[in-house]
Amino acid sequence: MMIAIYPGTFDPLTNGHLDIIERGSRMFEKLIVAVAESKRKKPLFNLSDRVKMIEESVSHLENVSVESFTNLLVDFMKEKNADVILRGLRVVSDFEYELQLALMNRKLYPECETVFLMPNKKYIFLSSSMVREIALLGGDVSCFVPKPVNEFIKRFVNDKRRD
Ligand code: COA
Repeated sequence: MMIAIYPGTFDPLTNGHLDIIERGSRMFEKLIVAVAESKRKKPLFNLSDRVKMIEESVSHLENVSVESFTNLLVDFMKEKNADVILRGLRVVSDFEYELQLALMNRKLYPECETVFLMPNKKYIFLSSSMVREIALLGGDVSCFVPKPVNEFIKRFVNDKRRD
């Protein structure tokens, strides 16, 4: 059975990420969305909320599960018996970082293979940081994120305003 891992910070999950997940779920028998703690990035949403938002957004995909991880990606892959790392490539500027990541992961774990998929072109200029900025400034992000993520963000922003 071919198991793929789709790792990311997902702060928060966007429609672009979901597009890659849906494509990956058609290619691999099992796809695990692996939510990295990414302490260095100081995420806006905590790890369990990021996992919950993704779980609600992928509930229509039977072979997709969501887990968090705090260790090295390649160690998490070994734990899960995964063969493939799935990543999305949007624009040329993604390439350099992705190449570095893929080659470093291969160095750490030579058996792992990274597969890149391109999202639908309507999502190539979308990023989590843009979604965060628009949402925090009171803008509507409903066309950029899945419905459960939008609902969560609206509650989050309202709670923040009340603080
Ligand atoms: N649609 C929309 N946005 C996308 C996207 C898509 N299809 N693909 C990537 N992005 C965006 C994200 O929204 C994010 O935007 P932001 O930086 O503006 O917030 C950016 O591209 C990259 O984020 P993401 O895909 O979440 O990846 P990442 O770079 O945060 O994740 C990890 C990197 C988690 C895979 C990597 O750090 C990792 O493996 N960490 C675990 C520890 C480890 O093993 N480290 C050694 C690695 S060699």
